Amino acid sequence: MNIISITDGYNASASLMIDGIVVLALQEERFNEIKNYTGYPFQSVKYCLNYLKKNNLKLDKAGMASNHQNPYDQKVKIYQNFKPNDFREWWRNKIQFNYFVEKKNKKIKMIKNVKRNKKTIEYLKEIRKKYTNKPEYHDFSFLNDKTINKPHLEIELYNRVRIKTFCDQIGFDEKDIEIIDHHTCHAYYAYYSSELNGKDCMISTIDGGGDGYKQSLWTVKKNNFKLLTKNNSCPIARYWKIVCVLLSLKPHEHEYKVMGLAPYSKDKYTDEVFNSMKNLCKIKNYDIEENRIYQKNENVNSMYDFFEKKFSNFRFDAIAGGIQKYTEYLIVKYIKKILRKTKLKNFVGSGGLYMNIKLNKVISEIKDIKNIFISASAGDESLSIGCCYYLNRQEKSYSMKNIYIGYREEKIDLKKISKKLRIKKIKNTNEIVQELIDGKIIGMFNERAEFGARALGNRSILARPDLKDTVRKINEAVKNRDFWMPFAITIIDKFHKKFIFNPKSLKSPHMTMGFNSIEKNLKHIVSGTHPYDQTVRPQILEKTSNEKYYDLILKFYKKTKIPALLNTSLNLHGKPTVNNLQQALYTLMNSKLDSLIINYKYIIKKR
Ligand SMILES: [Fe+2]
Repeated sequence: MNIISITDGYNASASLMIDGIVVLALQEERFNEIKNYTGYPFQSVKYCLNYLKKNNLKLDKAGMASNHQNPYDQKVKIYQNFKPNDFREWWRNKIQFNYFVEKKNKKIKMIKNVKRNKKTIEYLKEIRKKYTNKPEYHDFSFLNDKTINKPHLEIELYNRVRIKTFCDQIGFDEKDIEIIDHHTCHAYYAYYSSELNGKDCMISTIDGGGDGYKQSLWTVKKNNFKLLTKNNSCPIARYWKIVCVLLSLKPHEHEYKVMGLAPYSKDKYTDEVFNSMKNLCKIKNYDIEENRIYQKNENVNSMYDFFEKKFSNFRFDAIAGGIQKYTEYLIVKYIKKILRKTKLKNFVGSGGLYMNIKLNKVISEIKDIKNIFISASAGDESLSIGCCYYLNRQEKSYSMKNIYIGYREEKIDLKKISKKLRIKKIKNTNEIVQELIDGKIIGMFNERAEFGARALGNRSILARPDLKDTVRKINEAVKNRDFWMPFAITIIDKFHKKFIFNPKSLKSPHMTMGFNSIEKNLKHIVSGTHPYDQTVRPQILEKTSNEKYYDLILKFYKKTKIPALLNTSLNLHGKPTVNNLQQALYTLMNSKLDSLIINYKYIIKKR
């Protein structure tokens, strides 16, 4: 059975499954170079269709993740265009789209015949006029003065547009498209793509919101999925968005920067923030809920105002430390409770909150957790994969053994390469190893791109991990990254325990888990650890996952006794990870990278 699925919201993507195996997963941002692109993933779908054509295959099923998308968000591209002040204005004015309402049984219902307030109408008219993005694939003319006070109609009309665009491209009938709920896609991705596929497990999904919900909890026992809860009450991922704006960062994108900042805060100040957050939420049965009383007592208009009033007198690092500590405290408490109730010992998670590798680290340290697996890129970009798994639920589905399932440059044509570059054929990978030993910073452009937020060897920048100066050098050469952010490492599985504390032998093939480093060997991987708390976010590499990359690190190990390389994504600051050869060469030309390796066959340098 051949299945194509898309997600057309934040960080849009398309995936292709053939007989239960995910063979392609592509993010639209890689094609159009708009980071976290929100909209219809036209080029990703096109790539999947070309693959089917080349392999003489026909589509059997097609799905879309998320029952609804917010048409204003998509037209205005809020998360791409808004600056922190725009978010402040939006939240302070309590702009209500009024698409959904929560019923007593926690089910979300689409609102019918509810009018918007005057302030919201004025605001929507204003942003509609201000952000005139060039027309892409959807016709947004239905967002007009006639529909501005009919939210349910906007959603209905937009769904017709969404489905039509997809059908037109893949040649399906509208009635044959299956639309799958947002958190169901998160849950199916978390479980089926993981190493725990086939085992009894609990599945938690938490995000900033999808189809009106922010959290779900499932169990899988003897291959039977059971939904225990789905709610709109869990606010924790939303707190992260608010903290981003409070720190003048971009919500939905820069949460990882807050996480990276957190360890710098001194315990005393972290605790001050943490203590004032401690009672914000409560756990009721399977749900995380907000104690709204705290907001009421502060006499504030919105949650953003509440955070500003409570925390703006704290220093930036203390706020980061506080939200990280509170998240860990709340979620660990929640999971412990669920483990007791369900008697399960395996855990998988998905949704934006589980992009937090420090949170995943503390979950893994819960005594009763036997195994935790967080698949690559737990944010909305993986919804299209989850949708494929859901549509294949009657058949056998396989976990994702590797995630090198992105774009591949079919023909490496170096004839037209710029005269400013020189090409050399590689006789032996020892040549690459020698460059690394010499302290060079190398771009890697190999075979199929890896899916998701992390570069895992095929679209990576590599360097030796034992030189403290490497961080500064990479930052100056290409990244211009925030000075407080750590780099990561790829480490060979059979040697990793000498460097990384991993008593439960957890797998971390996709850089989704945090670990403590082992102090006596820290100096060998120091530039790939967090500069302050020395934790590490490793890709623990097995040979079967990426043989050539594994062999390269093994050769480096034989000469240096270090079985690891510093690994960061191949991209210029602010751009998505490189997809095609042209982008890779552009990156080399416009940075201080020492060289670019192509398919382990060519080494390209500037003249
Ligand atoms: Fe989500």
